[in-house]
Amino acid sequence: MCGIIGYCGHRPAVPLVIEGLRRLEYRGYDSAGVSFVQNGELSVIRAEGKLGNLEKKLESRNVFSATSAMGHTRWATHGAPVEKNAHPHLDHTGKLAIIHNGIIENYQAIKAELSAKGIAFRSDTDSEVLVNLIAECLKDTGGDVTLAISAALSRVEGTYAIVVMSLDHPGTLWATRVASPLVMGVGTGENFFGSDIPAFLPYTRDVVFLEDGELVKITATSWEVMDTATLAPIEKTVAHINWDVQAAEKGGYKHFMLKEIFEQPKVIRDCLLGRIDAATGQVRLPELDDMPAPERLHIVACGTSYHAGLWGMYLLEKYAKIPVQVEIASEFRYRDPILPKNGVVLAISQSGETMDTMAGIKLAKSRGLPVIGLCNVVGSSISREADHVVYSQAGPEISVASTKAMCSQLAALLLLTLYWGRRNGAMTEAACADMVRELTSLPALLENALPGLRTSAQHLARRYAEATSFLFLGRGPCYPLALEGALKLKEISYIHAEGYAAGEMKHGPIALIDPRFPTFAIALDDEFFPKVKSNLVEVQARAGEIIALTNEGLDLDVEHPWTLPRANGPLAAFVTLPALQLFAYEMADYLGKDVDQPRNLAKSVTVE
Ligand code: G6P
Repeated sequence: MCGIIGYCGHRPAVPLVIEGLRRLEYRGYDSAGVSFVQNGELSVIRAEGKLGNLEKKLESRNVFSATSAMGHTRWATHGAPVEKNAHPHLDHTGKLAIIHNGIIENYQAIKAELSAKGIAFRSDTDSEVLVNLIAECLKDTGGDVTLAISAALSRVEGTYAIVVMSLDHPGTLWATRVASPLVMGVGTGENFFGSDIPAFLPYTRDVVFLEDGELVKITATSWEVMDTATLAPIEKTVAHINWDVQAAEKGGYKHFMLKEIFEQPKVIRDCLLGRIDAATGQVRLPELDDMPAPERLHIVACGTSYHAGLWGMYLLEKYAKIPVQVEIASEFRYRDPILPKNGVVLAISQSGETMDTMAGIKLAKSRGLPVIGLCNVVGSSISREADHVVYSQAGPEISVASTKAMCSQLAALLLLTLYWGRRNGAMTEAACADMVRELTSLPALLENALPGLRTSAQHLARRYAEATSFLFLGRGPCYPLALEGALKLKEISYIHAEGYAAGEMKHGPIALIDPRFPTFAIALDDEFFPKVKSNLVEVQARAGEIIALTNEGLDLDVEHPWTLPRANGPLAAFVTLPALQLFAYEMADYLGKDVDQPRNLAKSVTVE
């Protein structure tokens, strides 16, 4: 969950690392720190809170001659988010420093053992235990850091990505990972580590994806990858990434979230790129050609990706006639699920790093089921663990609250439905071509609609800024969208919101309805409209106020009808979703909340 960056090169390393941390801050922002060797001293500078606090501390220091450094932004797992627990951590001799993302599960036993040898600890973290363990091993390896890291990690249980720096070897960094993200950037006369590619994107697009159990040693001009346990050399290929820096920056918008909401037309276009046969209007997904359409599908995901999966269930069942079960990954992994042999697991994850989703994949694989990953981040852990990968092609998503990634997941799920629906004969060529035609005209429709949606969202946010609770209602494929609308509002405006299946509302939430408890309904022109309408009448009978996303010409009498442009069948989701996102965005912005970095959240949840 934390952000880490390491650099060995020829540039002033500390400013470069700080700038890299700025691009990773979405991964965690409880505290931040850097370390570097300068004038024969290993310095660690850390600050509680956001990166700006660390930058203030650095202002008065001359940190410009170090050409290697490492830095960290933290999302607390062990120990409160205070300075003493911020990374990097030094060992008790002050000669080794570590940055760490993940959890060392047996750290208490190791800490007790090291304490018995007289080592005093300054923090509450598992990371400080690990750096002291490496320092202890260094005594037996004649000062060979590579050997000491390998020996220390052989005793460690848990998940980690670490970078290690040594006073005795300025200009060298070591890194290794198990189940936490870590990539290496390969430049000219400079090399990088990052927990994510944007950390070093302005300097190089040449990337080496590191696997679990690989240990890497870099200097400015060299890098070597070896097996952490045996130290046997491992050959790696360098991949070239075609993201640009612009794409990872705000481009004139006030927040990344707003920029990403407005990118959705492009996201749909990009998701379709290379996947539509222009002559026949059929869907091409060559990455899945060597497996038949699934007879049963288990979708496993978390958060917003889970909502996308739920939406996909409605489509896959209706059009491709595939029975689908959608599972919250953290539940699925600890159940003893019945997974029939003819089943396939589809793991949906924007980051491709979510630990519970990854664990769900491992469970499915251990039961012999093939796994397809629907991921956004190329080369991410889930994309590598899955047997097949379909990329959602949304580009880097920086805002913690996911928006455009969900849009791309919906587009990809629609493509999967059409692709499998044709392969198993559930859909005709003509029905598929019709849907594709509508899908390809969707970006233009959305581009025209977005500015107006934003104006409506601004107006409604001001009107309801004092509300303390919202009920989001939808039926059919709009039910997962109601869940997502409620999640977005909670995440960034901290207003309590519940998403509910409209028909279920009378079994409980209706008791909450009064004039101060607004309902946000999705009441579109589809087969569910009459049912949703009667649910809304029940709300009105209790004097509840209603905002309703709806279409022109429908007979609906509510306080705030919010008319959306018409899109047919499942395509309506692509217009409804940004309206929900913009409502949450405008509310949070109006209330002065930290939209891109909401409290207590992190973008990539690589812990349980
Ligand atoms: C975190 C993020 C959410 C995201 C969820 C799943 O909670 O804050 O925005 O939906 O993780 O992430 P994934 O990367 O697996 O889609």
